[in-house]
Amino acid sequence: MSDQEIVYPAEAIQTRVRELGARLTRDYHGRPLVVIGVLNGAFIFMADLVRAITLDLEIDFVRAASYGAATVSCGTVALTKQVELSLVGKEVLLVEDIVDTGRTLAALLEVIKGRQPNSLKVCALIDKTERREVPLTVDYACFTEAHGFLVGYGLDCAEQFRNLPAIRRIPQPDAPPCP
Ligand code: IMP
Ligand code: MG
Repeated sequence: MSDQEIVYPAEAIQTRVRELGARLTRDYHGRPLVVIGVLNGAFIFMADLVRAITLDLEIDFVRAASYGAATVSCGTVALTKQVELSLVGKEVLLVEDIVDTGRTLAALLEVIKGRQPNSLKVCALIDKTERREVPLTVDYACFTEAHGFLVGYGLDCAEQFRNLPAIRRIPQPDAPPCP
C-alpha cells in the first residue's frame, strides 16, 4: 500500500475535521443534537468529528448493507442496524464516509425522516459531487475534490485498508455484478 498515491495526508484530514467540528459547534449551539454515523465506513471520521464538536450531543449508528464486498452501488439499501435513540424533535446530523451516486444516502434519509427529527442534515468526509445520480444536498463535507477509488481513514476496499491514517487512491477494483 505504501506505493499508492496519497490524496489527503493525515494532517490535512485532521485540520479539515477540526474546522468542520468548529462550524458544527456554532451551527448547533443550544440545540439537542444527535449525530448518527453510517457503519462501517464513517467510524473513524465520526470518532474524530464528535471530539471536535464542543457541545452536549448524543451518538448512534446505522448500518446499511447495500454492497456486500462490492464497490459499486446496486441501488438497494437494507438496514442491518437501526437507529436506537429517539429522534423525535431533535436535530439530527447523519455522518457518511463517501457520498457517491447518493443512492445509499437517499434511502437512509427516508428511513430517518420517518423518526420525526426536527431537522436532518448530512455531513460527509468526501462528497464525490460529479458522480451523483440521485439529487440530494450534502450540507457539510470535508473534501469535495475526489476522483477514483479511495481507501484509508475508514474507507475500505473489500474491508481492507480502513486503518490507514491517510486517504489514498487505488486502481478501481472490479465489481461483482449486482444481484
Ligand atoms: P452511493 O450509494 O453510490 O452514494 O455509495 C456510497 C458508498 O459507497 C459509500 O458509503 C462507500 O461505502 C462506498 N464508496 C463509494 N466510493 C468509494 C470509494 O472511493 N472508496 C471506498 N468506498 C466507496
Ligand atoms: Mg460505506
